[in-house]
Amino acid sequence: MEKSHKHKILVILGTGREGRFSKRVAQAIFEEIKKRSDADPIFVDVRDFVFGATINGSDSDPRTEPWKDLVKEAEGLFFVTPEYNRGIPGELKMLIDSAFDEYVRKPAAICGVSDGGFGGARVIESLRALLSYLQMIPVWPNIFVSKVDKTFSEAGVTSDQNFYVKVNKATDELISLARLLKNNK
Ligand SMILES: Cc1cc2nc3c(=O)[nH]c(=O)nc-3n(C[C@H](O)[C@H](O)[C@H](O)COP(=O)(O)O)c2cc1C
Repeated sequence: MEKSHKHKILVILGTGREGRFSKRVAQAIFEEIKKRSDADPIFVDVRDFVFGATINGSDSDPRTEPWKDLVKEAEGLFFVTPEYNRGIPGELKMLIDSAFDEYVRKPAAICGVSDGGFGGARVIESLRALLSYLQMIPVWPNIFVSKVDKTFSEAGVTSDQNFYVKVNKATDELISLARLLKNNK
């Protein structure tokens, strides 16, 4: 693979909630990855994938094709999810459940978001377990965002430089795994 290749990374905003603060964080991650010469981020809003009924990802259904195509093309997935009652939002679970085979051997990063002090620690653990079940490869570091309403501006900017360091480290991992997996196919 030539050095100039830009790796496709999906940045997935995992909540459709009215007034969602996680959008600020997903935007910040998207903009940070966009600055890199080795990555091509694609913003995915779970709101665009809310189905009227649940669909088994193993089933063939035209409503699942746009998401399946995105996952197939992606070389890494970067999930941005708030913690709702210690789990992922229902709409993110619906989206994830609407594909299956497409996830195998895809590296995945996780950013948990909370307006409390634990940075979505519990949702990160539960999402890691789900991704592993689906044969995705969760990477380190996980990113914990606490007090999101105070630490991120509406424009999706934070003064916490450590956040950007972690976003880049997680993206480095996504890309090095993507390269490794491609070379061993
Ligand atoms: C249904 C619901 C359940 C929630 N449960 C938790 C929780 O278990 N832990 C937590 O830290 N925050 C919880 N929160 C608050 C979120 O941390 C808060 O909404 C935060 O702004 C991030 O989510 P947002 O993107 O929806 O704004 C919950 C919020 C909602 C709407």
